[in-house]
Amino acid sequence: MTIRVLLDTDPGIDDALAILLAIASPELDLRAVTVTGGNCPLAAGVANARSVLALVQQQRIPVCAGVALPLIRPAFTAAETHGASGLGYAILPQSAAPFASEHGVDCIIRELLDAPGQVSLVPVAPLTNIALAIRKEPSIVDVVKEVIIMGGAVRVDGNTTSLAEFNFFVDPHAAHIVLTSGMPMTLVPWDITRDVMLYQHHIDRLLAIDSPVTEFIAAATRFYLDFHQASFGVAGCSINDPVALALTLWPELATTQSVRIDIEYSSELTIGKTVLSYVGDATHPPRDTDMTGYAAAEWPATWRSKQRPAHNVKLVTHFDTETFIERFVSRMEALARLFPRD
Ligand code: BDR
Ligand code: CA
Repeated sequence: MTIRVLLDTDPGIDDALAILLAIASPELDLRAVTVTGGNCPLAAGVANARSVLALVQQQRIPVCAGVALPLIRPAFTAAETHGASGLGYAILPQSAAPFASEHGVDCIIRELLDAPGQVSLVPVAPLTNIALAIRKEPSIVDVVKEVIIMGGAVRVDGNTTSLAEFNFFVDPHAAHIVLTSGMPMTLVPWDITRDVMLYQHHIDRLLAIDSPVTEFIAAATRFYLDFHQASFGVAGCSINDPVALALTLWPELATTQSVRIDIEYSSELTIGKTVLSYVGDATHPPRDTDMTGYAAAEWPATWRSKQRPAHNVKLVTHFDTETFIERFVSRMEALARLFPRD
């Protein structure tokens, strides 16, 4: 049986790679791609998602424009990371497919209600669309199969401020609504995804196949690689969003721990910071044992609560990056072979 998936995106180079991984995965039934403003403005994100789907002849998959702006804060985009268009140096033709008329928020609600207990929702963008879907139709909380979110920086510096990861920073109020919604959630934080990197040798391997697909991946990631080199001094680029999608395919690659995660949304100084609360059985965290999948010494110094709030997410604490990258590159190769250059 195929896995029904809804991808909520802000394409974005790594969002585009997540879309391609979904298309390259026969186990998945990608129902729709919904889009919010994030890495680039909404209209550009919609155009990018449509072009990526057209590249692999999947125009039949609807791309539904959702909400353009965060709930309360002003727009915050990431042209320095993803390029002016959102897709680095890649230039794709516009899709000729008719525009989907359904709003992204309504698409999420309908897909979840149509197939209770069957849809994996994978948000890899600011959580604005998801938050508004919850507010508009609260019953989706009870029917979604799982929600796998890319976002947050739990025990590492953020990639947008020193405290906050991009998706949670852009719309912390939406993140608060989602994190406190009661949906069955897995959180894949920047802690994990920053180390899931594509390197030039992966791109060279893909370029051995002459295809518009490999040409696209190379042109998009060339910008992304340059950004990572300039910003972080690393030779690879973090492909965050495909990691969240991968957990629908290969959950065994992740180790998770049930914990409490909240987000700071009312302080300008620390806005977007995720807060991991201590939720073990003891009143005080033990000093020398493993509590959350981290060794005790690795625990973040953010907050250790004595109130023991209820767990709300499964936090990915470890991930088999090597196996994933090999599978990702293999799937991109297989996809590219389906579309040789004319
Ligand atoms: C997240 O921020 C965006 O720039 C990426 O697309 C990813 O979803 C990583 O922090
Ligand atoms: Ca994204």
